[in-house]
Formats: sequence, C-alpha cells, structure tokens
Amino acid sequence: MTAHIIDGKALAATIRKELKQEAESLKQQGIEPGLAVVLVGEDPASESYVKGKVKGCEEVGIYSELIRKDASITQEELLQIVRELNQKPNIDGILVQLPLPKHISESAVIDTIAVEKDVDGFTPVNVGNMLIGEDAFLPCTPHGIIEMIKRTGTQIEGKHAVVIGRSNIVGKPVAMLLLQENATVTICHSRTPDLAEMTRQADILVVAIGKPHVINKEHVKPGAVVIDVGVNRLPTGKLVGDVVFDEVKEVASYITPVPGGVGPLTITMLLANTIESAKKRNSPILNGMKG
Ligand code: GUN
Repeated sequence: MTAHIIDGKALAATIRKELKQEAESLKQQGIEPGLAVVLVGEDPASESYVKGKVKGCEEVGIYSELIRKDASITQEELLQIVRELNQKPNIDGILVQLPLPKHISESAVIDTIAVEKDVDGFTPVNVGNMLIGEDAFLPCTPHGIIEMIKRTGTQIEGKHAVVIGRSNIVGKPVAMLLLQENATVTICHSRTPDLAEMTRQADILVVAIGKPHVINKEHVKPGAVVIDVGVNRLPTGKLVGDVVFDEVKEVASYITPVPGGVGPLTITMLLANTIESAKKRNSPILNGMKG
C-alpha cells in the first residue's frame, strides 16, 4: 500500500479561505479581529514561526501587532506588556512566542494572559476547560491535527490512537482531544520500554518526539494514519520529521510530509481562534444586530 499524502498547505489554504470570508463578514459589522504577537530575543525558529503568523493574519484580514523585545527584557517588563494587551479593546488574541529566555518563567507569563484572549490555549483555565470538554480555545497544533485526521474522512471513534510525546503544547493536549473524539488513547514517551510494540497497535499514530527519523516502517501497522509533528533540521540544512517518510509511506494509509504537513495547519488554527475570540468578545454587538 502507498499512503495518501496529506497536503497540509492545501488544507490550510481551504480553511484560510473560509476564515477570510468570516473576517470580511465581521468587518461589515464593524468588527476587525486583532492578534498581538510578542517575540522575545532572536531565536531563528521563533522568528520564522512569528513571520508566518503575521503573514497569515494579513492573508485572512486580521489586524496584527508584532511586539519585539530584546532577550534582556525583565520578567516584570514582559508581564506589564501582557497586562496592557489584556486591556486593549482592539486585541482579541495574545500570543507570546515560546521558548522564552531562561530568566523568565513561562508559566508566569502564560498565567498573566487574559483567558478570553488566550488564543494559544495555554492558560491553565483553557487547558482545564479543554480537559473537561467545556468551551475553550483549543491549542493550535493539536487542533490542527484533529482537523487533518477528520478531513481525511477517517473516523476517530473506536480507533486506537497512539501519541508519542507528552509535551504541554502537543502530546498531552492532542491525546485529550483524541479521547474526546472517542478514540482509545495510549501516550508513549522517552521512558516507554518497547516503543515499537506500542506503535504497531496504532490505527492513528501521532509522532511528536522532536528527533529526526525515529519512527520507521517497523513501528507502523499497515493502513495506519501517521501524523508527523516533528520539524528537525539535519546538519545538511534539510528539514525532516520524526518519521522516515519514504519508508512509512509504503505502509500507512495516510501520512503527513515535513515540511508542508502539520505546520501550515497550526498557524491556520491560531487565525481561527483569533476570529472566534473576536466573535465571542463582540457577541453583544453581533447578537444585537441579529435580533
Ligand atoms: N512555540 C512553538 N510552538 C508554539 C505555539 O504554538 N505557541 C507559542 N506561543 N509558542 C510556540
């Protein structure tokens, strides 16, 4: 079997078209969604992600503000920036790009973001609401992964989903979302003794290890849906995932490439959350106009 390759770029473009229409319709009602992105320091990967986020906003018609600060900024100065953004009426979403310099506590910064503007879905209240299935901003990468699996036409309910990785940004939340979709979920991580034994049971395999080419065809059950969240740069400069794509595509039913798989969906879900936030924050106006 040769897998269908999930085209993240094309999928993102389809969803962005839908979002653009939503943003236009909000504008006609006097509402312009706004996103503030805070970038501290000059990490090249963060620079590139942030560029993609600002560009995505332009494409869809979301107002964006990029706040760049030197890595020497103090924690208190950064918290003050977040507090000010919490108060700004034209800002619906706040994203502080991670990782932050070591002298700044990421959790202190995340805890300061107003829950109703937490379009990353990182605040403890949002994470808790997601866990219990209440209304919440879903974290962007896990949300994108679920959207991708669904748009392949794969039924998640009743399937065995195996997630490799337990980070707060990807592994844990994607496992919870798969559970909410009624999959049976196994979470594997660096201390799992026999990884292949677990992964070979997966109908849906989500790989978020962060090391190049760990998962090969011996790890994959024939016909599985394989989602590769890894983005690793080889010494040659080439970007590769955590999965040996050329091997695994001969076994899987669907597979995401790197680049061009999960990445474009992540930014798209951030744009979706920002529009959602604008709608929620303006619901009195929107409902008033409807009535
Ligand atoms: N760094 C890597 N991924 C993310 C993300 O989704 N949000 C933020 N804020 N930082 C990140």
